[in-house]
Amino acid sequence: MSTERRLDGAQQRAEAPASPAPERTDVGLQIEHVSKDLGGRTIVDDMQLEVKAGELTCLLGPSGCGKTTTLRMIGGFLIPDRGRVLIGGNDVTKMSPDKRPTAMVFQNYALWPHMTVFKNVAFGLRLRKLPRQEVSDRVAQVLELVGLTHHVHSYPARISGGEQQRVALARALVLEPKVLLLDEPLSNLDAKLRVRVREDIREIQQRIGITTVFVTHDQDEALSISDRIAVMSGGNVEQYADARSLYREPETTFVASFVGAMNSYEATVVPGGLELPGKLVVPCDDLSATGDGTFEAGVRPEDVHVSLNGDGAPADVVREVPRGHYKEIVLNAGPNEVRAFVSADLPPAEHVRISFTRALLYRDGVLQRSSAPVSV
Ligand SMILES: Nc1ncnc2c1ncn2[C@@H]1O[C@H](COP(=O)(O)OP(=O)(O)OP(=O)(O)O)[C@@H](O)[C@H]1O
Ligand SMILES: [Mg+2]
Repeated sequence: MSTERRLDGAQQRAEAPASPAPERTDVGLQIEHVSKDLGGRTIVDDMQLEVKAGELTCLLGPSGCGKTTTLRMIGGFLIPDRGRVLIGGNDVTKMSPDKRPTAMVFQNYALWPHMTVFKNVAFGLRLRKLPRQEVSDRVAQVLELVGLTHHVHSYPARISGGEQQRVALARALVLEPKVLLLDEPLSNLDAKLRVRVREDIREIQQRIGITTVFVTHDQDEALSISDRIAVMSGGNVEQYADARSLYREPETTFVASFVGAMNSYEATVVPGGLELPGKLVVPCDDLSATGDGTFEAGVRPEDVHVSLNGDGAPADVVREVPRGHYKEIVLNAGPNEVRAFVSADLPPAEHVRISFTRALLYRDGVLQRSSAPVSV
């Protein structure tokens, strides 16, 4: 028998789990050692993740890394081969989607075109055979929450993409789920609307304090709306942290390169700094670790200090890209390419000096850390 379940609006219902257990209020969602094989391959591999109640976690990762598969296991549309999924401390691993307290919003909205906004949102409640008045009240409440009261009688084709996405959100929220699941909910919107709707979603999520898992492959989206971000690669979580830690302390070279821009070099630690290929010594104020031998060094472009003269390694400016209040400079430093974000006030120059204010050192792809930051 296939473990995949049919998906339709009727199944997005939020009901209390069948076997009552003392509920843990601090934990929204736990994924415990979950694995899933599909088409003869392991797609999700011994994954662990804990989302606190009321927290928004993004699953961020490249295409095919297992984000949707994970979300489908949380929503009950796929059953894990191994491991458990718990919501509020209750094991829901084998519970059908309509029995578990989750609701899902999809990329393509999946609104019924022949139903008004009201009927689309009311659909799940009507299936539950709730009294007419209660359905009306709850739909009115949730439409107010998403700012769509004026479109209650509109048909989906008559409202904008952003509004359609908010109807999809309302349709999920009206079921009062404990965990809200969103799979790339903004990918059909243009760039400007994406930013606005993601801010709306975050604002609504915080207002009602709903535990949320938001899937995206857009790092900007993840960094701007999450309490925490799980960066996934090859069916597993590489790092689970808040946006700042993820950006400043990426634990692996995969995370370092996937989240934000990063210069990377083979380097050795020498007195005063780092020696890069071409025997180029670049002064560095702060290293994550120290030691003999070769490291993979990661330097964020804003951690490259560029000056017109003074100390530092010589570098030639290849290109300058204005970015508004700052500019991006591409440099050649010996055989190495260096990208730097500098103040827009720095005058254009052909030859400059560079130093690093901070470098992260990796071995075998893993961040090396001394107990305290190392000054060299
Ligand atoms: N039913 C299935 N049978 C076989 N392979 C599958 C099935 N569903 C998904 N896969 C494979 O599992 C891998 C992960 O798929 P998944 O949809 O979880 O990725 P994703 O991280 O959501 O990617 P994207 O960002 O492109 O949506 C892919 O290689 C996909 O082809
Ligand atoms: Mg996907």
